[in-house]
Amino acid sequence: MIDAVVTRFGLARMPFGRDLPPSRLHRHADCGEAAARITWAVSDKTIAMITGEVGTGKTVAIRSAVADLDPSGHTIIYIGNPATGVRGILAHVVTALGGKPVHGTAALAVQAWAVLAGEAAERGRTPVLIIDEAHMLGHDQLESIRMMTNHDMDSSTPFATILAGQPTLRHSVKLGVLAALEQRITVRYQMKGMTPDETAGYIRHHLEQAGRTTELFTSVIRGSKAKNWTLRRSCRGRRVRGGEAKSAATRGGSQMSATFGYLRRRRSCR
Ligand SMILES: Nc1ncnc2c1ncn2[C@@H]1O[C@H](COP(=O)(O)OP(=O)(O)OP(=O)(O)O)[C@@H](O)[C@H]1O
Ligand SMILES: [Mg+2]
Repeated sequence: MIDAVVTRFGLARMPFGRDLPPSRLHRHADCGEAAARITWAVSDKTIAMITGEVGTGKTVAIRSAVADLDPSGHTIIYIGNPATGVRGILAHVVTALGGKPVHGTAALAVQAWAVLAGEAAERGRTPVLIIDEAHMLGHDQLESIRMMTNHDMDSSTPFATILAGQPTLRHSVKLGVLAALEQRITVRYQMKGMTPDETAGYIRHHLEQAGRTTELFTSVIRGSKAKNWTLRRSCRGRRVRGGEAKSAATRGGSQMSATFGYLRRRRSCR
């Protein structure tokens, strides 16, 4: 069935997949800006908070920024599901850096701090702690992250922390009990999604990556300002719904190429 759809629409493979390597991501301003801020936070060994609604491209921006880091100078610790309690986060850090988590949460916190500092001091690598879906973090977990950044009597931090999550994360860290963490977050970015022009470019880009060079979708989708996930669903749905996709396909043409441009950006997703 999928093969038939792919062949019918002149594709080499299913488009809108999640497996695009960083070098083939779509370049748009929002993604570029988020990735640039993550890169800056890493070089400054500080805490960054990237927020955005579901599907705005937070994880992709992280992937893009990480791909640009020198692998010999950085150790990436990625936590994709932080719903593991304070101990889960600390144990993940220790294990990722080759340690064996000790018993007792207080002792584990000291151990996590020590392995992070050791990675920087002994191996000369900057640990980059990335917590995706960070809106799921409880106050105690956020506070434990803040405690890990206390180093050398607060004069320096040996690692960078990237918190990425839905907009509720922004509200959580504003709570009085987390004031100390809030004050340490020096890089922030709220992802807004793509402009209509970028949306059109995004669709074209995914189709091109799948081998399609001519237009496939109607202006209804092309002109919409939607989140990436919604788009992915809409585009896949339209493609397999025979009549609609057929009429869009037969319309053909290259109207897109003349009209669509990308916004100037400080840093492109790559
Ligand atoms: N720059 C891009 N180029 C190509 N595809 C992209 C780009 N940005 C996002 N996507 C695609 O859009 C979809 C959603 O992106 P992503 O998972 O990064 O969003 P998110 O903000 O992390 O969502 P969630 O809140 O659900 O975690 C994915 O399928 C991803 O591959
Ligand atoms: Mg994500």
